[in-house]
Amino acid sequence: MHAQDPAAQSLIDLGKRYWLPVYRPRDVVLDRGLGARVWDTQGRDYVDFGAGIAVNALGHQDPDLLAALTTQAHKLWHTSNVFYSEPPLRLAEELVAASGFAERVFLCNSGTEANEAAIKLVRKWAASRGRDAAKRVIVTFRGSFHGRTLAAVTATAQPKYQEGYEPLPGGFRYLDFNDVPALEAAFVHGDVAAVLVEPVQGEGGVLPAAPGFLRRVRELCDRHDALLVLDEIQCGMGRTGTLFAYVQDEITPDIVTLAKALGCGFPIGAMLAGPKVAETMQFGAHGTTFGGNPLAAAVARVALRKLSSPELLANVYRQAQALREGLARINGALDLFEDVRGRGLMLGAVLKEAHKGKAGSVLDFAALHGLLVLQAGPDVLRFVPALNITDEDLAEGLQRLETALRAYLAA
Ligand SMILES: Cc1ncc(COP(=O)(O)O)c(C=O)c1O
Repeated sequence: MHAQDPAAQSLIDLGKRYWLPVYRPRDVVLDRGLGARVWDTQGRDYVDFGAGIAVNALGHQDPDLLAALTTQAHKLWHTSNVFYSEPPLRLAEELVAASGFAERVFLCNSGTEANEAAIKLVRKWAASRGRDAAKRVIVTFRGSFHGRTLAAVTATAQPKYQEGYEPLPGGFRYLDFNDVPALEAAFVHGDVAAVLVEPVQGEGGVLPAAPGFLRRVRELCDRHDALLVLDEIQCGMGRTGTLFAYVQDEITPDIVTLAKALGCGFPIGAMLAGPKVAETMQFGAHGTTFGGNPLAAAVARVALRKLSSPELLANVYRQAQALREGLARINGALDLFEDVRGRGLMLGAVLKEAHKGKAGSVLDFAALHGLLVLQAGPDVLRFVPALNITDEDLAEGLQRLETALRAYLAA
């Protein structure tokens, strides 16, 4: 890592002293951003290929987002859901229209909260059909990530997130991702109420659903009276080249959860409910104080409009090609990756056997050479830049990646 000046070091020391030590940030104190660049408190610039974990989809300081935020900030920040205000009403209408399947929307504050709402909606729906508690099973997949509340972390079929938090809520069944025979077998007990799945697993290693897999999930759900719930918190909002990733799988879900890029940096989440479940939860069934607050909704309306635009989606396609080509070129020279996978601007470079477990170390070298990038587990470098990233920033980021990887190899 860079040497820190005393001011930056004293800030880092505050984190080490006062934060619950659940995070391990790199020793970089970021100060401001513009587009796909950020600067630390010591004035060093970084190309941002991480976008705050796939959140800043329009980069930093997008002028339209800034205008929406500041205009709303001068009007009304918060009403609670005891009264109406215009931004969340419009946002709900626009999300329904954009989705093409949803009839109603529940607005909340994060991805976890959107999934928690979806899990509760599934259970309530199954209950409303007279199914007893044993017949309200939710199927999820190994390698998935759905969030950190007790229910969401139980849906997250990865022991490392669950250990020590037992007893976990019941009624979840875990399968291998993309395993069709296992999927078919999971329905034989007649107790499945829903399948919850990410069209592209994010935290689990940037792993897309295999062609046809989600169609098979849809068929089985239909045959067995179960709901299909898609977690598009990371892969949605244009990241894969279409506003919703599931469009590419040619399916219609019953529930979709969104967060991250929906607010492009302002916290907001949403659960979209299709016709089977739109009337299931009635007055008092669920709620949240901050969900759909006017500030967040005003920003999200602009984010939704911009992330749906054909120009933006064309840029995703173009830059995804450039990123793939750049990674292939780097790999041609350095022979580090066994695979580059993903969809659109959600790509993962899987490290070869000799470098397994070293993604974190590569990230350190990247930061040292002016590049912010993510990992998805110990073996995968994850690239989720702003969707409006320019040719220049993408090329510069790749250049810095190559320099960083050479330094990593030389170390
Ligand atoms: C696919 C997916 N679902 C849910 C979540 C949880 O979202 P949040 O951290 O906003 O609660 C994440 C976060 O990384 C995610 O990637």
